[in-house]
Amino acid sequence: MPLRAIGYVSQATQPWNRATVDDMVERAAAFNRLAGVTGVLFFDGARYLQYVEGPEDGVEVVYGRIQSSPLHSDLMELARGTIGRRLMPYWSMRWLLADPSHMRTLVKADWTGFIRLAERKTNPQTAMEHVHRYVEPYLGGEAA
Ligand SMILES: Cc1cc2nc3c(=O)[nH]c(=O)nc-3n(C[C@H](O)[C@H](O)[C@H](O)COP(=O)(O)O)c2cc1C
Repeated sequence: MPLRAIGYVSQATQPWNRATVDDMVERAAAFNRLAGVTGVLFFDGARYLQYVEGPEDGVEVVYGRIQSSPLHSDLMELARGTIGRRLMPYWSMRWLLADPSHMRTLVKADWTGFIRLAERKTNPQTAMEHVHRYVEPYLGGEAA
């Protein structure tokens, strides 16, 4: 079965509260594990930006849960498509605090095709290169 990926940005509907986000992501990760979905969630206190990937049916059901959550609104899809291999296999879900300038960079970056040039280690240009640069410091033994 082909792998699907979706990236989106949305507006938080509630004032920033670490415990609420921790709790939401803990339950999201548990569900994603069963659905075979992996990815990452960035939050700057006002906006969420999430990348999810996995089998088509898993991504569909997870994205349905995401869309119906009252914790955010104004969801705008940045990209959706088929990918040849997992680009973010490290976590069933984890959230990282992003600063607003990182968030702006991610939103404005080129999401076309979820392309990441493996050989480009510095000077990220595509959205997935930026995502990886923000994620890399949090990877333990996992290869980036
Ligand atoms: C920004 C954001 C990201 C979310 N990401 C996921 C996700 O990756 N997987 C998931 O199943 N639900 C996700 N959700 C939905 C909620 O986590 C989920 O519907 C809620 O925690 C209820 O979970 P429960 O049915 O296990 O109680 C997300 C919601 C928001 C606001």
